[in-house]
Amino acid sequence: MANAQAGIFAMGSSSHIYLEFSLLKEDEGIDLVEAIASLEMPQATVAGSNLVVGVRPTLWRTLSPHDTPSMLFDFSESLTGPDGFEMPATQRDLFVWIASGSQGQVFDVAETVVETVTPFAVLNEEITGWHYRQNRDLIGFVDGTANPILSEAPSVALIPQGSPGECGSVLLFQRWRHSLPEFNELSVTEQEMVIGRTKIDSEEFEEELLPPSSHVARTTLMENDEELPIFRRNTSYGSPRENGTVFVGFSKDQPRLHAMLQRMAGIPDGIRDALTYYSTPLSGSYYFVPSVEALGSFIDAAQDR
Ligand code: HEM
Repeated sequence: MANAQAGIFAMGSSSHIYLEFSLLKEDEGIDLVEAIASLEMPQATVAGSNLVVGVRPTLWRTLSPHDTPSMLFDFSESLTGPDGFEMPATQRDLFVWIASGSQGQVFDVAETVVETVTPFAVLNEEITGWHYRQNRDLIGFVDGTANPILSEAPSVALIPQGSPGECGSVLLFQRWRHSLPEFNELSVTEQEMVIGRTKIDSEEFEEELLPPSSHVARTTLMENDEELPIFRRNTSYGSPRENGTVFVGFSKDQPRLHAMLQRMAGIPDGIRDALTYYSTPLSGSYYFVPSVEALGSFIDAAQDR
């Protein structure tokens, strides 16, 4: 039986960093994955930090074709809505998310990770994430209300046992910059129409009152009368000058993540997510987050060579 990377579901850490790397040489993908898989992490068990590792979908397919879900693709092309609104594609080769109760520890682990992969890859992005008012976005709304409860999250986020890629997950990772002055100029009622939930209590709207352009309406996907959920682990980033939301969304099924993005951009029907007038995506990548065993098979490979 395979096991999921535990950090996907480990809640409660206050400090986070997200690192994205690109290969220095295209043919060194195996060296990169072996290096990160072989990283010894006593910090994880001794002092309590979590590491989640993701690999570019097409790279993972090349390295581990039998452990890859049939539907798995890179964020290779920007998504452009009918009015020109764009979600950029900034696909990288390796993703590492470190979470801990202490910023100092996040720093130490991040340094070790960077040192470990530096022979093969360059660090393109580093974002420090944190929690604002416990569980709110910087726009002041609770983020995660519609998430599945923890006991159900694995069935939403993980590829089922017995399928190729079992216990792996597909991650959508995006940095969104907020335009807080513009958003904060709206009345609370107008803000609630943008999101599709109430601000203080995160209450749902009656279906007939939910604006079709609200964020909730754009990201609620239905199939045969059933909702298609995802599992979000977003944090906030930044300072007064530049700030926003780090979108960290896991799913067992990549097309639903992509369909949500397309609906937010207004691609299928011309209705653009109202939130995108106040938040701008600056990056966009997909990663395959393999099971512990699938990633671990690269430790053995490294030792055999
Ligand atoms: C600036 C970036 C974003 C912000 C600030 C944001 C914020 C929110 C907030 C406040 C909610 C309502 C409360 C909740 O259920 O969590 C929500 C719901 C949701 N968001 Fe986002 N979000 C962002 C981007 C995205 C993206 C990129 C996706 C998907 C690709 C997404 C998918 C969802 C889903 C699936 C829901 C639940 C909808 C439902 O009620 O069924 N969000 N988001």
